[in-house]
Amino acid sequence: MLHGPNLNLLGSREPSVYGRVTLAQLDRLIREHARRRGMRVECRQSNVEGQLVDWLQSAEGAGFGGVILNPGAYTHYSIALRDAVASIKLPVVEVHLSNVHGREEFRRHSVIAAVARGQISGFGTQSYLLGLDALAALARARPLRAPVGESPHPRRRLTGDVRGARG
Ligand code: DQA
Repeated sequence: MLHGPNLNLLGSREPSVYGRVTLAQLDRLIREHARRRGMRVECRQSNVEGQLVDWLQSAEGAGFGGVILNPGAYTHYSIALRDAVASIKLPVVEVHLSNVHGREEFRRHSVIAAVARGQISGFGTQSYLLGLDALAALARARPLRAPVGESPHPRRRLTGDVRGARG
């Protein structure tokens, strides 16, 4: 579970957008959800682009089966993160607390989405839990071998909308 820049401030940062749950509380929810599903999860946060790139690159070697990534503002412009996601074999699920498609114009474009397995956006802390469920479903469904010429993992996109909930 990789949290990008400014997500260390969850709880106090723009609570009308991101809610009042702190990062420590969110990580606890994530770990509990994973435990109930028999998954092991490690939660990390960094404000540094290169650190996130390093973690993505080393994830498979470290024994992880997938990555849930909230790239924060890097979502919208980090080609380095995009290339890191595209370079690794592990499935990466992009998640966002807020519905980035219902916010400012500059948030509507993700440079990560096209290379992630899918995007979950707009369900608050649930976005992360849905991300875990998505990785679990992928692990269950992954065919042993892809039909010739076909990717076993077509990239999908799933978005939600919390505009109503925020008024
Ligand atoms: C965010 C959305 C981004 O646009 C923003 O820069 C963030 C948080 C979210 O989780 O809703 O830092 O990724």
